[in-house]
Amino acid sequence: MANSNTKTSESAHEAGSTFVPVEPFEIVVFGGTGDLARRKLIPSLYHRFCDGQIPKDSKIIGASRSKLTRDEYLIMIKDAYQTFVKDETFSEKKWDAFCKLVDYAAVDVTTDKDWAGLGEKLDKSQKLIRVFYLAMPPALFSNICQGLKSAGLAHKQSRVVLEKPLGHDFNSADDINEAVGKVFSEKRIYRIDHFLGKETVQNLLVLRFGNVLLEPLWNRDSIEHIEITVAESIGAGGRGAYYDKSGALRDMVQNHLLQLLCLTMMEAPGSTDADDLRLEKIKVLRALAPITAENVEETTVRGQYVKGKVDGESAPDYLTDVDFEESDAETYVAIHAEVNNWRWAGVPIYIRTGKRMSARRSEIIVQFKPVPHSIFGQGIPVNPNKLVIRLQPDEAVNLWMEIKEPGAGGLRLKTLPLNLAYADNFTVRYPDAYERLLMDVVRGNLSLFMRRDEVEAAWIWCDGILNAWKEVDQKVSYYPAGSNGPDAADRMLAKQGHDWSEIK
Ligand code: BG6
Repeated sequence: MANSNTKTSESAHEAGSTFVPVEPFEIVVFGGTGDLARRKLIPSLYHRFCDGQIPKDSKIIGASRSKLTRDEYLIMIKDAYQTFVKDETFSEKKWDAFCKLVDYAAVDVTTDKDWAGLGEKLDKSQKLIRVFYLAMPPALFSNICQGLKSAGLAHKQSRVVLEKPLGHDFNSADDINEAVGKVFSEKRIYRIDHFLGKETVQNLLVLRFGNVLLEPLWNRDSIEHIEITVAESIGAGGRGAYYDKSGALRDMVQNHLLQLLCLTMMEAPGSTDADDLRLEKIKVLRALAPITAENVEETTVRGQYVKGKVDGESAPDYLTDVDFEESDAETYVAIHAEVNNWRWAGVPIYIRTGKRMSARRSEIIVQFKPVPHSIFGQGIPVNPNKLVIRLQPDEAVNLWMEIKEPGAGGLRLKTLPLNLAYADNFTVRYPDAYERLLMDVVRGNLSLFMRRDEVEAAWIWCDGILNAWKEVDQKVSYYPAGSNGPDAADRMLAKQGHDWSEIK
């Protein structure tokens, strides 16, 4: 579940008033009483409604098995909004206006009996854009799509959004894609990875392809290694049943981290059109050096947190968090990946993600090579340049440079950043990732969603790692909650003469 970092304010809504309204639409959120809907999807729709982007004749229908009335559902989503979203200028008036769009349908997707009732709530003229958002376990995706088809609810204007995880390996993802594909054509399927909705992740494209400076250096000749970190300080508590079967590789690497890797390593696409972009990402995924039983122990580290302290507060171990007696699930994974192509051959790409680490921090670090020869003589170290792209929190781009420290006392070099901090430059509200993605679904823009072959290519690489772990019986290494991860991960990089950045 994504954390809320939405800074909402009345003035911020007004400041961002360049919003172009989308066409009227209706959205059915399956899993409408679930965590994702209550914490993220409904608040995102509310924010875009306040921004004037959602027309008043749109409909938002929460659907789930619970037998709730519309009024009970409205109370539930308001409670959730007030609990999870820090909105200092919450307006009852706006919320009430938003609620006029909201309805609720009790639908048990495992039976046939409720589809007609759902159909009653949908636009009879079939003119509205119709979105089905499946925020439910993927094992139910096939049932839902079949149910929609048999009840005649999936008309030509309709599209489906598939929430992750999309399966637990290549085969299960393939089954899901087949089942969904029987009802919705590929261009009506929106496979979501909410990281792609983050402002700073989209900025990777602008940074790389909107500036001429980086491209000549963006290759094996100038880059020593790349580090991609997505560290979280929260634990896995509350989601144990899902998380323990998944682990960090499936939960984070197969999707979010590989997406970051693709955007960092891919060639320039011809345009930002969906297929131009996705084609370039797929090429990167297919070029990833396979990890097998022969090299898995040198190239990966699995970790699990034990008790420790996060932000000065004691934090329990993973087993206590998820209330299990034993588990070998990894809550941390570090991988030494490589992309086998002319641009990147031999450049280590270190990726890591973990729960209950010392801080919440997502960052891409491009470590450049040292200057070929120092003119400053021995005893004056010249640090290589480093580009740090901070995705969250404190969004920023820092280019670390060597400069001369002013003053008497001989020549001294200092390493300082050219600092492009978002907070210093932008005052608009940062929309939650889901806001943009939901509006893109309505607009029919697939650029920030995954194509079937893209998801499958990511699974093929991850399956290699999962199978290798099984084959060599690679166990988790333990790390204290609130640390930077297991020592084994430091040793993995030390062997290459590198080290991880500190997470703080
Ligand atoms: C989700 C994962 O996809 O992303 C969670 O399932 C993780 O385990 C979350 O906590 C992180 O998202 P964000 O937006 O909070 O960085």
